[in-house]
Amino acid sequence: HRYCVIMCGGVGSRFWPYSREDCPKQFIDFLGTGRSLLQMSYDRILPIVPKENIIVVTNEKYAGLIREQLPDILPSNILLEPARRNTAPCIAWAAYHIAALDPEASMIVTPSDHLITRENVFEDCVRRGFEFVESHDALLTLGITPVRPETGYGYIQIGQEAEPGILKVKTFTEKPNLELAKVFLDSGEFFWNSGIFLWKASSIISALHKYDADLTCLFDRGVSDFGTPREMEFINANFTSCPPNSIDYAVMEKADNVYVECVNFGWNDLGTWSALYDNSPCNEVKNVAQNCNVLAYESTGNMFAVQSPDKLVVVQGLNDYIIADAGDVLLICPKAEEQRIKQMVTDAKLSF
Ligand code: GDD
Ligand code: MG
Repeated sequence: HRYCVIMCGGVGSRFWPYSREDCPKQFIDFLGTGRSLLQMSYDRILPIVPKENIIVVTNEKYAGLIREQLPDILPSNILLEPARRNTAPCIAWAAYHIAALDPEASMIVTPSDHLITRENVFEDCVRRGFEFVESHDALLTLGITPVRPETGYGYIQIGQEAEPGILKVKTFTEKPNLELAKVFLDSGEFFWNSGIFLWKASSIISALHKYDADLTCLFDRGVSDFGTPREMEFINANFTSCPPNSIDYAVMEKADNVYVECVNFGWNDLGTWSALYDNSPCNEVKNVAQNCNVLAYESTGNMFAVQSPDKLVVVQGLNDYIIADAGDVLLICPKAEEQRIKQMVTDAKLSF
């Protein structure tokens, strides 16, 4: 049987100050469609995986937001983490949980904060991916043709074709530095990791055993509790001991049974303000205004996002900046420096 795991526990700090710890970006309706990124992720998977097999893994802080935004999801399908430990523990828990319900299960693991514009193509790709992992002991990722030397993604070097449209992965490099990212891009041999994975629950559990023994050692102690009323008790007592790590570093970089399905379904990681800028309609001077009124003189390439709808933004001689005003924070930062926002959030928390 097919399951879906929506990972929904990140803080989206590069989207600060819109994205806040108490309401990260996946819960925000960024595009003004009436659906948050999380709701859009859920809608997209509904035609592929039965509702009762859709599982959301998130931090316990967001239980209320999840119930509000996804009222159809079964309460037992909301896995609430007592601590933030990144995606490896999140995926490990989901895999142990699913394997206890159905040892033969296959699963798609998806982020909750991406934009996918061609949903029909997405559906076909995911079905194809499920067929592949159900007949192989494979860790499959969906790969995107890279268009710039982005340092915030994983890079996948492709090898031999295994089946039509699916290639063996030679190397996987998570978040390379800029120099390396440029080499990867120029070589034409690399894809971006979309962060969407497919595998059998048993395949990821055995890969975790091989490459992250600390984690599986911990989860194996609770193996008889998963899928029973004792599961939460086990998690609450043990999850905090999981070493924080992302699945990309913990498994994908190391495993030798990684495959990639190269896809083209209008994927966008709305990971940063620039990404939102790139995906929004601009006016003639290339300024993007997100829900706000802007009066701009000799200014171009700016991303304006102001939460209070009746505030007018007036600028003169400003180019390629992010102006984001939300709640008690106003951020003014060149688009080219936006990778530093993560650090700014930390500093702001410490100082104010
Ligand atoms: N439940 C849970 N718990 N979810 C989490 C946690 C956690 O502790 N941390 C992050 N997530 C969720 C985020 O909300 C997001 O939906 C997803 O997991 C991925 O986490 P990110 O923190 O956004 O990862 P990333 O963007 O740095 O990198 C990943 O995605 C890239 C593509 O967008 C990697 O897989 C890269 O290789 C990939 O290129
Ligand atoms: Mg991300």
